Amino acid sequence: MNDASTSPPRGRILVVDDQLNMRATVALLLRSKGYFVLEAATGEAALATLASTEVDLLLTDLKMEPMDGLTLLKKALEMAPRLQVIVMTAFGSIESAVEAVRQGAFDYFTKPFKDRELHYRVERALTQARLQSTVDMLIGELNERHGLSALVGHSPAMRELTSRLMRVAQSDASVLVQGESGTGKELVARAVHAHSRRKNKPFVPVDCAALSETLLESALFGHAEGAFTGAGPARRGLVEEADGGTLFIDEVTETTPAFQSKLLRTLQDGEVRRVGESTPVKVDVRIVAATHRNLEREVREKRFRQDLYYRLNVVMLRVPPLRERLEDVPALAEHFLERANAHRPKPKRLSSAAVEHLMGYSFPGNVRELENMVERAAALSQGEDLLPEDFLLSPSEPPQPPSRSQHRTRTDE
Ligand SMILES: Nc1ncnc2c1ncn2[C@@H]1O[C@H](COP(=O)(O)OP(=O)(O)OP(=O)(O)O)[C@@H](O)[C@H]1O
Ligand SMILES: [Mg+2]
Repeated sequence: MNDASTSPPRGRILVVDDQLNMRATVALLLRSKGYFVLEAATGEAALATLASTEVDLLLTDLKMEPMDGLTLLKKALEMAPRLQVIVMTAFGSIESAVEAVRQGAFDYFTKPFKDRELHYRVERALTQARLQSTVDMLIGELNERHGLSALVGHSPAMRELTSRLMRVAQSDASVLVQGESGTGKELVARAVHAHSRRKNKPFVPVDCAALSETLLESALFGHAEGAFTGAGPARRGLVEEADGGTLFIDEVTETTPAFQSKLLRTLQDGEVRRVGESTPVKVDVRIVAATHRNLEREVREKRFRQDLYYRLNVVMLRVPPLRERLEDVPALAEHFLERANAHRPKPKRLSSAAVEHLMGYSFPGNVRELENMVERAAALSQGEDLLPEDFLLSPSEPPQPPSRSQHRTRTDE
C-alpha cells in the first residue's frame, strides 16, 4: 500500500462496494497504478471515511444495502462539494448511472470493465479534481488581491467607506459608486464583489464611455446571428457572461436615454434579450455601477433616467477625493513606490521632505495622479532617496492628466 505521508500520492481514491471481490479487485488495480486507495463496504462507512480523511475521488457501486449509491453520492457531495465521483453499475442499469451523473457524478462505467478503461476514467476524474483545485486557489488569490486589502489607506473617510462596503457586499443590493476620476471606484467595485457570496463567479466590467451606443448594446446584451451589418455569428453578451456574478457598469451616465431604458428593463425583469432575438434569457447578476458625475444633478437636468437612478442607487458608496483624506498620501505613496521598486535592483526610498511636500498638494487627479507621480519620480530620480524636487507639482509642469480618455477630464462637480 502507498504511504501517503512520504510520497505525494497521485490521487486519493475511496472505493465503495458491498461485494468484497469487486472492491478488492478495483482497489488492487488502482494501487498497482500508484494511487492511494481507501476501501469501504457500505455507504455509511464511506461517509465516516470522508468525514475524517481527505479524498479526491469516490468510486462507488450503485446497488448497495442499506444506503444505495445515489444516496451516498448526494450525502458525499453535501459534505465535500469539490469531490469527484464515479459510479459503477451493473450492465443493463444505465438509467441509474445517468441519473447519478445528473445529480453531480463526474462519470460512470458498467461492470464488468477493462483495466484500461478503469484507469483512464479514474485519471480523467483526478485531472478534473486537480484543475478544480488550481482554479479554486487562483480565484482565492484573485479575491485576496481585489478584496479590502487592495484598498490602501486608513483615514477616517476610508474606514467609513470600507465598513459600509463590507456591510453592503453581503447583500445582493445594487450599488452605485460615486467619486471623482481616479479616486479608486473600480477597486471599490471589485472589493464589493470579492466580499460577496458571488466571489467565485465572474466580475465583468463594462465601460460605457468606451463604446458607441450600438456596440455597447451588443456587447452587453449579445446578439443573434447576423442581427445587424457585420454582426457575424450569434454571441452571448456581458450580462450573460456575468451570470451568477457581478456586472460592473462603469461610467453609467455616459449613455443615451434609449440605452438606459433597455438596461432598466433587463435589471427589472432579470432577463436579457439579445439584439435581434425575441426570446429572453434568464440571468442572475448583481449590479455595481459607477460614475464620476453628480448623478442627482444628471437626473435633475434630464440626462439620466430617474427610474434607472432609483434602481441602481439602492446603496451609494461615495469614494472621497484624495484632498479630503491627505493623511492617506504617505501610505499610498509607499504602496506605489514598493510596486515601482519591484523591478529595480536597488530600491528607492521616500524622503520625509518629499512626503511633506506631497501632503501639501490637492491632487485634482486623485489617487491615479499620485500613482503616476510616484512611478515617474522612481524612474527619473538620480539618487536613492526621492526628494521634493522629484515630484512635479508646479503649474509650469503639470502632472499627467489622470484620465484614460477625454470624457474623463471633464469635471462637473
Ligand atoms: N485606496 C487605494 N489603494 C491602492 N490603490 C488605489 C487606491 N485607490 C485607487 N488606487 C489605484 O489608483 C488607480 C485608479 O483607481 P481606479 O481605476 O479604481 O479609479 P476610478 O475612480 O475608477 O477612476 P476613473 O474615474 O478614472 O475610472 C488604480 O491604479 C488603482 O489601483
Ligand atoms: Mg474607473
